[in-house]
Parts: sequence; C-alpha cells; structure tokens
Amino acid sequence: MSEDGLRPILDSSSVNVVQENVHETEIPLEEVDALLIRSATKVTADLLRSMPNLKIIGRAGVGVDNVDLDAATNHGVVVVNAPDGNTISTAEHTFAMMASLVRNIPQANRSMEEGRWDRKKYQGAELYGKTLGIIGFGRIGAELAQRARAFRMNVLAYDPFLTKSRAEKNHVTAVSLEDALSQSDILTVHTPLTKETRHLLNDETLASTKPGVFILNCARGGIIDEEALYRAVTSGHVRGAAVDVFAEEPAIEHPLSSLDQVITTPHIAASTTEAQQNVAESVSQEVLGYLEGRPAPHA
Ligand code: MLT
Repeated sequence: MSEDGLRPILDSSSVNVVQENVHETEIPLEEVDALLIRSATKVTADLLRSMPNLKIIGRAGVGVDNVDLDAATNHGVVVVNAPDGNTISTAEHTFAMMASLVRNIPQANRSMEEGRWDRKKYQGAELYGKTLGIIGFGRIGAELAQRARAFRMNVLAYDPFLTKSRAEKNHVTAVSLEDALSQSDILTVHTPLTKETRHLLNDETLASTKPGVFILNCARGGIIDEEALYRAVTSGHVRGAAVDVFAEEPAIEHPLSSLDQVITTPHIAASTTEAQQNVAESVSQEVLGYLEGRPAPHA
C-alpha cells in the first residue's frame, strides 16, 4: 500500500475505493470518475490514458507537482487542491524547526541519547530581535510571520504579489529579494515550486546572504539547490539549515542529513491529524460538488 492507502495503481488495472471508511472495493480504472490523492501517487500521462472516464483529480494537500498538469488538461481532467487545510500545521512545523535549529535541540537530544553531556557545544542563539526573511508571503508565510512577531522578531517579506496594504496589515516589511537575502538572520522559503522558483537559493544567492545565516525549507524540494546549500553549510557561511522537503523524495541517507548543522524531517510539515482531516474533507467536498455540477473553486 502507498501512503495514500491506495495500491500502486500504475501497476494495476483497478483502483481501490473506500466506501464510508468501511468497505473497500475495486473498480476498473476505465470506470473511475474521480481520483483522490495525497502526495505519493504520481498521476502521469500513462495513468491518465488508462482512465478515459476520469473527470476530476482531487489532491488532498497544496502541491500538485505529483500530477502531470499538461496531460490532465489535454485529457479534459480538472485538478483541484486543498490550499487552506494544512496552513497552520505547516506554519507551526516551520516555526518548530526554526526554534529547534537555533537552539540545536535535535543535536543536543541525540548527544544525550548517546550518553554525552555537551553543554558548551550546543550554545545556541535567541530568536528575539533577529530578522526573519520570508520568501513567498502566501497563507503559510503570513501565519509564520504572526508567530515570529510573538517572539519579537523583525519580519521581512519578499513576494512579487505582496501589496503594501497586505504587508502593513501583517506587520511585516515588504522588501526586494536582494534585501531579504542580505538583511535576514534567518531565511525561510514559502513559494510553490515553479520554473521561476527552482533553485531560487543557489550558489550565487546564498553567497549574498549574511554570513552565519540560518536557512529553512519546509515548502517544496527544489526551491533550494541542495548541493549549493551543502557547500554553503560546510564552508561555514550558512550556520545551520532546517529542511523538511527534498528535490527527490523519499530522501534516504541524504547528504544534508549527514551534516551536524542541518536538521531534517521527512516532509512532515503538514502531517498532523487536523491538517490531514481538513484537506481530505475539503477536497472530497469539492470533488463531489464538481461531479454534481457545481464549480470547483480550487481548480
Ligand atoms: C502539501 O503540498 O500539501 C504538503 O507538502 C503536504 C503534502 O504533500 O501532502
């Protein structure tokens, strides 16, 4: 079974359907009207060809990079997501990663598990008074900013769509990308992964950050060039990094995980009971509504 609770449907001619959470039944792919997925299922052009009756794909989550969107459009299949349901969980995880990172909590915990008492080694830094640069100021960026302000951080936000009034309403300073890079003590990315944002943080942009900066990515693997980040951490320019998402997942034995200054989690920012319930309900309702002839607001 995949993490979605579906069989790996690419190798199968049918898909599992759970009815009222009790009965599980199999229906042939060619009869399927709607497909509900989380992140593990890859919806490829081949899969879409094998589902001629398919009308809508519901992604219980935000990112739709596991769906071949061009192929879906060509097949006349609508793709909807659930952009709101995991905002809080993702913002909370990012904040938890940031606090853990600057205080070396995972490393200190591991050292105690290994029988050591390394008080000097794990001297950290305060969040108070530090400048947090948020690149990508959508829902998650805004929730994170609120939490950072509660910790008395200065918050800079870069987003090409950020209006002055929205920045003011959220008590953040809207800045250029260059200023976010050069003025932040801690930088976190919250953009989708697109052609424009792929490797937004690379050798060149990382070199323009403050020496000793902390970097976070709890958004999408690929926004940061992982090899460039590795180099920046090992050179000492980047003091530490927290990474929840990777260019290739699952990221088993990833080089970044081997660095003591880097803390990593296996793409769990949205993995809370609340978020998973929210996104599942939201996407199911939208898919059912669409099949009943209502518009799909998150297409
Ligand atoms: C999302 O895109 O919603 C999050 O990254 C979590 C997930 O992949 O389900």
